[in-house]
Amino acid sequence: MEVNKKVEEDGVIFMSIKDKEDAEIKKENKDDVVILAIESSCDESAAAVVKNGREVLSNIISSQIALHTVYGGVVPEIASRKHVEKMNGCIRAALDEAKVTLEDIDAVAVTYGPGLVGALLVGVSEAKAIAFATGKPLIGVHHIEGHISANFIENKELEPPFVCLVVSGGHSHLVVVKDYGEYEIIGQTRDDAAGEAFDKVARAIGLGYPGGPKIDKAAKEGNPDAFSFPQAQIPDAEYDFSFSGLKSSVLNYINQAKMQGQELDANDVAASFQKAVVEVLTSHAIKACKEYGYKKLAIAGGVASNSGLRALMEKECKANGIEFYRPSPVLCTDNAAMIGAAAYYEYKKGVRFGLDMNAVPNLPLGDRERRFHAGK
Ligand code: KG4
Ligand code: ZN
Repeated sequence: MEVNKKVEEDGVIFMSIKDKEDAEIKKENKDDVVILAIESSCDESAAAVVKNGREVLSNIISSQIALHTVYGGVVPEIASRKHVEKMNGCIRAALDEAKVTLEDIDAVAVTYGPGLVGALLVGVSEAKAIAFATGKPLIGVHHIEGHISANFIENKELEPPFVCLVVSGGHSHLVVVKDYGEYEIIGQTRDDAAGEAFDKVARAIGLGYPGGPKIDKAAKEGNPDAFSFPQAQIPDAEYDFSFSGLKSSVLNYINQAKMQGQELDANDVAASFQKAVVEVLTSHAIKACKEYGYKKLAIAGGVASNSGLRALMEKECKANGIEFYRPSPVLCTDNAAMIGAAAYYEYKKGVRFGLDMNAVPNLPLGDRERRFHAGK
């Protein structure tokens, strides 16, 4: 994946992501399905054009991360307003880069949950307006299903069933992907999401926002065995996660060190904390593959770009004869190409949403509110 970046005057980063070679253009046969996909669930405004679920013709991301950094986290109102400003430009760029027009697309897909309601509404309204104006089918996509489907883009041979560990800022789920769009959740977090724990610990050790990438970097300079932080196991739910005890233990250590006037080695704390998170995520995922009898394991979501997680997963999968799949880091964070990938399989199943589609901020995985409109 090749990323072309440009910082705009307001601090927003405009990115265009491409495969190395020029993407194949348009439809080569009449069964090809070209989808315009839109994503705006958090602080990235994104649009992409995806052919047959796996070929990315364009992938545009307008990231507001720098705007929220000064507040130490995403400010929902700022995110919504920036989406309004940026979304049209992203869609225009995605169509231009793919060398298609709205006429050429077969459907418009959009993330309709979960996420920040005001942010989601911008993408949903935009997608509904395009569907209404063009008469093209409208498909609502679950954000986490999008993250999982990011694995299909670079692994053309990957097909369900497989196990997927979804770890993002808001979610930590261990899922069996039974078929396209069919998920069984076998484990989830009891408290903080993995990304949330990274962000909170990073703030506590003074690394700032966004915490995940900063801890990842600091951990490379630190000793992962400097501290032994707890890895929670939940007796009655062996695949569930809990990160709040780990986070409290790190915070206690920091406070104690401060009170005793000791110097804090942020790199050692970062490395030891990351080790604890990564080990628990990996051991649960490998155990699930073995016990459920799957030979394929994928990771997805923002935390899936963590270098420690990728390395340990790779090692453990190899040791256990499991095929390991992970998207390139740029496809782990929020983007619209993954929404286009998920939407393709919904399109093939005949899923169509009406113009009464709404944003659902707490939309559960696998329990989708679907609308079928015959003939559309
Ligand atoms: O999937 P994502 O972009 O947005 C959500 O859907 O939440 O995930 C964002 C989360 C943030 O908590 C961020 O700190 C974390 O992913 N993250 C990482 C890394 N890169 C992003 N966590 C650990 N290591 C990383 N390299
Ligand atoms: Zn996400």
